[in-house]
Amino acid sequence: MKDEKTIDWARLRKDFPILDQQVHGKPLIYFDNAATSQKPRAVIDALVHYYEHDNANVHRGIHELSNRATAAFEASRLRTAKFLNAKSDNEIIFTRGTTEGINLVAQSWGAKNLKPGDKILLTEMEHHSNIVPWQLLAERVGATLVYLPITGDEGLLDLSKLDAVLTKEVKLFAFTHISNSLGTVNPVAELCGRARRLGITTLVDAAQSAGHCPVDVQAMGCDFLAFSGHKICGPTGIGVLWGRQEILDGMPPYQGGGEMILTVDYFKTTYKKAPHRFEAGTPDISGVIGLHAALDYLDAIGRDNIFKHDQELAGHAFEQLARLKGIRLFGPKRGRAGLVSFLLDDVHAHDVVTVADRHGVALRGGHHCNQPLMKKLGVSSTARASFYFYNTRDEVDRFIDVVKEIQRFFGQ
Ligand SMILES: Cc1ncc(COP(=O)(O)O)c(C=O)c1O
Repeated sequence: MKDEKTIDWARLRKDFPILDQQVHGKPLIYFDNAATSQKPRAVIDALVHYYEHDNANVHRGIHELSNRATAAFEASRLRTAKFLNAKSDNEIIFTRGTTEGINLVAQSWGAKNLKPGDKILLTEMEHHSNIVPWQLLAERVGATLVYLPITGDEGLLDLSKLDAVLTKEVKLFAFTHISNSLGTVNPVAELCGRARRLGITTLVDAAQSAGHCPVDVQAMGCDFLAFSGHKICGPTGIGVLWGRQEILDGMPPYQGGGEMILTVDYFKTTYKKAPHRFEAGTPDISGVIGLHAALDYLDAIGRDNIFKHDQELAGHAFEQLARLKGIRLFGPKRGRAGLVSFLLDDVHAHDVVTVADRHGVALRGGHHCNQPLMKKLGVSSTARASFYFYNTRDEVDRFIDVVKEIQRFFGQ
């Protein structure tokens, strides 16, 4: 088992070819990892190897290439099950990403199990991907949405209000593990345990956590969990929905087409079992294979080590930013995940990001697909720096200098 202190983080950084470049004449500092991560050579090589040697459609052919592609595709499913500590690879559905995983649950499980008068509980810090699918479902079945509030700028879930909203009308509680705007790490096992005692199904949005900290679906005690490959060193266009097998077995198909059928007659189709029942059409085969390489890569470092590294950078950034005058910081003071969101007095977040870019620093400014959260905070946007294990303390210090420069530039 590797230890965070003995890992050669600088060597790991060299695995990411894209990081070795200048932007506007300055060394690139990539702090937009919450939007998407960069890809290590191992993942790029896995994609190239697949296309150069094994490319064929899966589950269909009996020829050698198709067999190889199918074996690699299913090996990735098994690897993903291990990554999440799932009981079986039958619980792993490949999707396009977190968004599609949540939509799948809403349209398949939700449409079957929800009726007029039922409630869906969300939190005020959810990404649009964990709000809009539930709004669509609620309109379709006559259910209503309820929100667990947050505490304000500190961005913690207000657990004192949980009993009031976790009522018997609630059929589903869907919430994020780590907030993409606040950096809050939610107590997933506790929330799932409280829901489970009332017979409420739970869905965890692990888009910001899956490749940043250990994620064990059995220890969490959730019913569904979704994440995206592209945020954890994998390719874009591939994601995972995990669901408890006994729940997946009772769910109707989400989309119809090839791959998900047993037999098709003119007026009647029979379907495969989960997970294949939920994977209509030719899947993102290279994405699945690239995801396997990403999971191997991350686990060779250790997700607990990655989390410590992320947290150290975020803690350092938060402390340094908090010393500046005229800054408003969002999210918890302690125990935050690897990102910081802030606003400078009288400077729009987009201006912060534009000037930072001139210094080679890639930040994100906007509502981060968290419009209801922004409304709660009384702002329209924030600037966000989000870190990953290939970022360094030195980069954080340079970023702080850039923020000071921006303050001077705008006369603060
Ligand atoms: C918390 C959270 N949920 C869901 C998503 C959606 O992920 P994707 O666009 O990969 O489906 C994101 C992406 O930023 C996110 O941060």
